[in-house]
Amino acid sequence: MPKRIPKILITGGAGFMGSAFVKLLIKGSFSVQGELPFVVVDRLTYAGDLKRLESVRRKFKFYKVDICNKRQIDSVFKKEKPEIVVHFAAESHVDRSINDAQVFIKTNVKGTQILIDACRRYGVKKFVYISTDEVYGKLVHGKFKENACFKPNNPYAVSKATADLLVQAYVKAYKFPAIIIRPSNNYGPWQYPEKFISLGILRVLEGGKIPLYGDGKNIRQWLYVDDCMRGIAAIMRKGRVGEVYNLGGIGESRNIDTAKLLLKVLGVSPEQIEFVQDRLGHDIRYSLDSSKVYRELGWKAQVGFIQGLKLTVDWALQHQRWLKSKLPDINKLYK
Ligand code: NAD
Ligand code: TYD
Repeated sequence: MPKRIPKILITGGAGFMGSAFVKLLIKGSFSVQGELPFVVVDRLTYAGDLKRLESVRRKFKFYKVDICNKRQIDSVFKKEKPEIVVHFAAESHVDRSINDAQVFIKTNVKGTQILIDACRRYGVKKFVYISTDEVYGKLVHGKFKENACFKPNNPYAVSKATADLLVQAYVKAYKFPAIIIRPSNNYGPWQYPEKFISLGILRVLEGGKIPLYGDGKNIRQWLYVDDCMRGIAAIMRKGRVGEVYNLGGIGESRNIDTAKLLLKVLGVSPEQIEFVQDRLGHDIRYSLDSSKVYRELGWKAQVGFIQGLKLTVDWALQHQRWLKSKLPDINKLYK
C-alpha cells in the first residue's frame, strides 16, 4: 500500500523554523507519488522569505495570507480542508516587542484565536501550537518542566503565553485536539539576522563586532533548528493530544561564551566583541527539562553546540548575499 500523508497546513512556513519544518516534511515524502499535501500560509512580514523554500519550490501550495484575517483564513480552510495544522506564524523577536507590543498581541494572540476557531469549524484533527520556553520566565537554578507556572517577562513572551493558555482552554472546554510544544532558543541556517547568533555572524561578516547585552552572563539553551524540527515532527505524529512537550537544546551557554565560540568558528579575533546597553527586563537564564519527550518519543537534541555553530557559519558564508540584504532593516532596528 502506498503511504498516505495527511494534509498538513503550516502557518509561518516562510519563516526560519517553519521553512525548516516544511523542508523536513518534503524530504521525508520523496517516495510518495503525485502532489504532496503540504500547504503553507504566511503573510510574508519582514521575517518571512520564500527564498528559504527555493530548494523545494512546487512541492507545496502557498497562500500569502494574514492569520488575523478571518475571511482569508476561512477561504484557505474551505478550499484545502487540512487534517493537521502546525502553527509557527508569529512575531518572534523580543527586542521588537519591547519597542512596540501592538503587532505581537495582534498576530500572536488574535491570530492564534482566529486560527483555532477555523480549526474547530473545519474539523481539523490535530493542531500543533509552537509555543516557547519564554512563557515560564527566567530561572537561576534547575530546569523548567512542562507543569511550571507561567511568568513571562517581555511583551513577546506574554503574547506567546496568552496564546498557549488560550489553546489549553480550548482543549479543556471543547476537547480541542491540540498539542503544545515549547522549544528553547533555536539557531541555524536561514535565521533572520536579528537574533543573537545570526546577528553576530552578520556583524562579523561586515567587519564589525558581536554586540553583547549587559555583562554577557545571561544564559540560553541553544537548540540546532534541524534537531528541533525532528522533535516537532515526532510530536506531531506520535505525541499525545492535549499534552505539552518541552524541546530543549544541549548547548546551554552564557552569551559571552557563545560569542567567543562563534568568533573561534568564524576564525577571527576573540576581541571582536562589544558590550552594549542591556535589554530591558533581560531574562537571566532559560533552561528546559526535556525528559518527557525523551521518555515518550525518544527525542533528544543530537547536534553539539560547536558542530551546530560550524554548520551555521558554513551556511552563512555561502549565503552572505541573503544575510546582507537584511542589513538596512537590521540597522534600522539596532540604530
Ligand atoms: P520568524 O520570525 O523567523 O518567522 C515567523 C513567520 O511568521 C514569518 O514567515 C512571518 O512572515 C510569519 N508571520 C508573521 N505574522 C504573520 C501573520 N499575521 N500571518 C501569517 N504569517 C505571519 O520566527 P521563527 O524563529 O521561525 O519562530 C517560529 C515560531 O517558533 C514562533 O511562533 C516563535 O514564537 C516560536 N519559537 C521560536 C524560537 C526561536 O528561537 N526562533 C524558539 C521557541 C519558539
Ligand atoms: P535572542 O536571540 O534575541 O533570543 P531571546 O531573546 O529569545 O533569548 O537573544 C539571545 C540572547 O542574546 C539573549 O540573552 C539576549 C542576547 N543578545 C545580545 O547579547 N546581543 C544582541 O545583539 C542580541 C540580539 C541578543
